[in-house]
Amino acid sequence: MSQAPVKNMITVKGLCKSYNGVPVLKDLDATINRGEIVSIVGPSGAGKSTFLRCLNLLETPDSGEILVDGENAEEMDVKLLRRKMGMVFQQFNLFPHLSALENVMLAPTTLLKEPKDEAEERALDLLEKVGLAGKAWAFSWELSGGQQQRVAIARALAMRPEIMLFDEPTSALDPTMVNEVLGVIRNLADESGMTMAIVTHEMRFARDVSDRIFYMDQGIVYEDGTPEEIFEHPKRDRTRAFIRRVDTIRFELDKDFDYFGFDAKIDNFAMKHMVEQERRELLVELIEALFDNFFFSKVDELTFSLGVTEKKEVELRFAYGGPEINPMIADDAPSRFARSMILKNGTDVEFNVIDGKNVLEFVLAPKNR
Ligand SMILES: Nc1ncnc2c1ncn2[C@@H]1O[C@H](COP(=O)(O)OP(=O)(O)OP(=O)(O)O)[C@@H](O)[C@H]1O
Ligand SMILES: [Mg+2]
Repeated sequence: MSQAPVKNMITVKGLCKSYNGVPVLKDLDATINRGEIVSIVGPSGAGKSTFLRCLNLLETPDSGEILVDGENAEEMDVKLLRRKMGMVFQQFNLFPHLSALENVMLAPTTLLKEPKDEAEERALDLLEKVGLAGKAWAFSWELSGGQQQRVAIARALAMRPEIMLFDEPTSALDPTMVNEVLGVIRNLADESGMTMAIVTHEMRFARDVSDRIFYMDQGIVYEDGTPEEIFEHPKRDRTRAFIRRVDTIRFELDKDFDYFGFDAKIDNFAMKHMVEQERRELLVELIEALFDNFFFSKVDELTFSLGVTEKKEVELRFAYGGPEINPMIADDAPSRFARSMILKNGTDVEFNVIDGKNVLEFVLAPKNR
């Protein structure tokens, strides 16, 4: 008796994953239906990449269940699982000694043992499909980032996957090349009938292309819904806060970082979002003062992110490891300095310990608020 295909292509129940005792995925539940296009959005560190990597067992889950097309992924042959599920990463990693065509043909000829001429014909078709018919014999160093990423997509498609996973496929690209890659993914979504999960920071694209959006936060799918539900009528607080944040920029910094390039990036980011000059200057001064007099007297490295909301509020977020150090209550001189600077200029100050990290956040609101 033949079985009817299961409707859910991917079912995840109670997925948990920690790194060095720090939980990253916390009892995550999710389903993706056959043929469905799901975009996964959410703040940095939410666990989006970890989730995708668990799906095709690039990471081993600590507990929970992953069913792919009705089968328990962890009991499947990993090769079969990965053949069923193609993955495209931020970094395209083409083989530099092979042409575009050879990159696309490699896995079908070696793993699937397809005859060379057949594999070549198909590879040429796929390259044409991603708009690179003329580049079949080019090496990666002869291709732009956007072209390399399109070859990487063709390479994944060459294995005839039923599912495609994309992890921020455009975030390593020069802005001028983002659209050509998104266009290729959009065509695939429209025409192929494949099941797709796409981690992206491109909100407009996510909204246009997806059947459903997962908003991930702190290790779970915190809210999911249609693009309209998530972008127009988010139900939960953290989703709402995320959606109204227009853009963010993030830096991993250590004591030796270069203020000069950094200041320029901050200023450009704020300028791009039409934050007025007075507040841009204040922002740069404030960040430098906090780094010099507080953070780097306490810790060796930290993650700093800056967000701008629709109302032009500038949100600052500092995450740092080590023992709990809350400058809003501590009584040493650096903390007192940081506290006075923050209270003088910022609003909505919040300090939390999240996943073992100190997280300090505040807002630099427009003056007329
Ligand atoms: N191999 C690893 N070893 C240790 N920690 C890790 C590892 N991979 C991820 N993490 C940590 O797990 C957390 C979630 O990481 P993940 O890369 O899944 O987030 P993300 O949502 O994809 O973020 P981003 O938007 O920045 O890509 C982060 O705090 C990260 O530092
Ligand atoms: Mg990621």
